Amino acid sequence: MAVPLLDLRLQYAQVKDDVQRRMSALCDSQQFILGAPVEELESAVRDYTGCGHAIGASSGTDALLALFMAMGIGRGDAVITTPYTFFATAGCIHRTGAEPVFVDIDAATYNLDPAKLEDCLRKKCHSGPDGRPVTAAGNRVRAIMPVHLFGCVCDMDRIGVLAREFDLPVVEDAAQAIGADYPSKAGRTMRAGAIGEASYFSFFPSKNLGAFGDAGMATCRDAVLAAQIKLMRNHGMGAQYHHEKVGGNFRLDALQAVVLSAKLPHLDAWHAARRRNAALYREEFEKLGLLDRVTLPVEPYAMAGVPNHHIYHQYVVRVPDRDRVREKLTAAGIGCAVYYPVPLHLQECFASLGYREGDFPESEKAARESLALPIYPELTNEQIREVTAVLGLILA
Ligand SMILES: Cc1ncc(COP(=O)(O)O)c(C=O)c1O
Repeated sequence: MAVPLLDLRLQYAQVKDDVQRRMSALCDSQQFILGAPVEELESAVRDYTGCGHAIGASSGTDALLALFMAMGIGRGDAVITTPYTFFATAGCIHRTGAEPVFVDIDAATYNLDPAKLEDCLRKKCHSGPDGRPVTAAGNRVRAIMPVHLFGCVCDMDRIGVLAREFDLPVVEDAAQAIGADYPSKAGRTMRAGAIGEASYFSFFPSKNLGAFGDAGMATCRDAVLAAQIKLMRNHGMGAQYHHEKVGGNFRLDALQAVVLSAKLPHLDAWHAARRRNAALYREEFEKLGLLDRVTLPVEPYAMAGVPNHHIYHQYVVRVPDRDRVREKLTAAGIGCAVYYPVPLHLQECFASLGYREGDFPESEKAARESLALPIYPELTNEQIREVTAVLGLILA
């Protein structure tokens, strides 16, 4: 039985009528740029995540770029993040003229390791004139950007302690984590995108909440910053044809907004289905005695009683001889993928940053060993059993 990595047609069937009704109304109006549909989605995302302000954008990448531009991040600045993430995270830092500074991940969660962040801030940076850290290259650290990779929120309590000590804002990369909950030690449950000073989501079609093309959203706590992001989204234009800043065209299409508004009410049920699939994978791998060869994803907040402790944007396991396993799974018709085969510090375009192989061992190891298996909500139990059975044969 073939099992695709993702089949969005099954999701579309659930929302088709609503999407088509909303799209048809929009087509009748012929009002495609910003307006009520975008504002409606922004308001729904604010309610859903608890963030202060939400600003729709043409992609996750553009949301992040608009956010950095609004924060005034540029030449002479630096932003700390991990090298084990999608390219856009560091690409946007670089595009502003700032320096991406990498800190290795925690092996179990694939997220920014707070101990290594502390090491970076205390030992690899020195203190600038205002007491904030300055990198070895002489750039002022302007933000810490943890990435909630694969749908599980980073250890935000420990990151927050360091951010406060060094007086740095936390910009969450929540591209893969809309709806993911975080049980803070202060006893409050917070949602990805509403924990740090600012954040952004990607609505790339394969995301848990996916558009019919590219779309994204920036979020932030502060109203002044939100106004700046809005300005940057639309060529820095305040009054019509009066440009206060140089921004870009980072606007969210109304057509994408109506699709996302139709899908958002289903999102929690889809997250829950992904968690159910993850539980069945665990059960099956255990039954097959494969847990000595397949390392399953961890669920650090499973016992905390928060609704979306993990939203499983991807279900990523580690296997020995990953590339051979991937080839065999593909040959057997089982969809799988590698996120991400080359960590960002080893990307050709970042050679000038001066990083070398061995600098971030956990990211490099994850890039060699990790393999994403199908996890989408509509996957059947039979399909999951097929994936585990085939993997069992390959690893026998
Ligand atoms: C971690 C991460 N950051 C940034 C992005 C960029 O988002 P987009 O593809 O919507 O531009 C993505 C999505 O692909 C992502 O997964």
